[in-house]
Amino acid sequence: MQKLNNTFIQLVNILNDGQYHDGTTIGKRLNITRSAIWKSIKKLIQYGVNIDSIKGRGYALREPFILLDRETILNDIKQPITLDVFETLESTNQYLKNFFNGNTIRVCLTEQQTQGKGRMQRTWHSPFGQNIYFSCLYSFQQDMSELSGLSLTVSLAVAKTIREMTAISCQVKWPNDIIYQGKKVSGNLIEIQAESHGICYAIIGIGINVNMLHDHDEIINQPWTSLREITGHYYNRNPFISALMNNLLTYLPAFSQLGLAHFIDEWNQYDYLFNQPITLSNANHTIHGIAKGINQYGHLLLESNGITKAFSSGDTQIIKR
Ligand code: BTN
Repeated sequence: MQKLNNTFIQLVNILNDGQYHDGTTIGKRLNITRSAIWKSIKKLIQYGVNIDSIKGRGYALREPFILLDRETILNDIKQPITLDVFETLESTNQYLKNFFNGNTIRVCLTEQQTQGKGRMQRTWHSPFGQNIYFSCLYSFQQDMSELSGLSLTVSLAVAKTIREMTAISCQVKWPNDIIYQGKKVSGNLIEIQAESHGICYAIIGIGINVNMLHDHDEIINQPWTSLREITGHYYNRNPFISALMNNLLTYLPAFSQLGLAHFIDEWNQYDYLFNQPITLSNANHTIHGIAKGINQYGHLLLESNGITKAFSSGDTQIIKR
């Protein structure tokens, strides 16, 4: 567990022009020793960043990238929050479990997760410096049972952010996937702790495949894509994260006051499964039917043999004709 420090960010910023820079010159610019530079370079290499080095010329990034920058992100967020940014962490959701009972909105970001968690005990592939691994601890003055549509609301906020930042029109796949042309771009994992005095703490974990390219197929066992693969552009994650947080700061209070009913029209516009033949699976069984949208609790409506029933959990898959 290591917080992202400024020297590290500045070093990457210098190397970001793709040119070679020698340790002495970088050291002078950052006012640190050559051995401190070497330590940071070694760390980047350990994190899987491709760095070329030539004796006498120094180091160069094979593929320039921009690290997370706490101050830049905070500057663009419209409300005060507490923000922790790490180089590496087991899981941003796990980290925020240390802060239940706090009374501020707390956000955690990291460049890499070593034990990123997905739904249904799956892992979330989280390579260094490429994607967004974001968790937010948010309190609701509500009973846990009233939060059943939270993950759908979060999906809508993510889809909106992606559209604003990239002009990509994604769809939402019940309950929590963001999909582009059948491939997963983002997912969320929400963990809730209920307190006795009518307060619930939700850890809202969001993973977005931003700049990752397809050299990870062997690790991810479902069809996926990234924003960079879709458009061919590299994305600076910093403004993206501020925009995501600003959208959540609109969507979460609206969900808390008005419930999911407020978002049903929006859900219908994005609904990937609507009118499709699908399977809904959980640990015990698989059900077939035609997806018919959601009800006011965010439960999936499934029509089978002329009868429509609501389901509160499971994994969905379109049946290919
Ligand atoms: C899923 O679609 O299965 C949910 C994926 C959620 C991944 C995010 S990444 C940030 C946060 N920390 C985690 O360990 N998981 C969530």
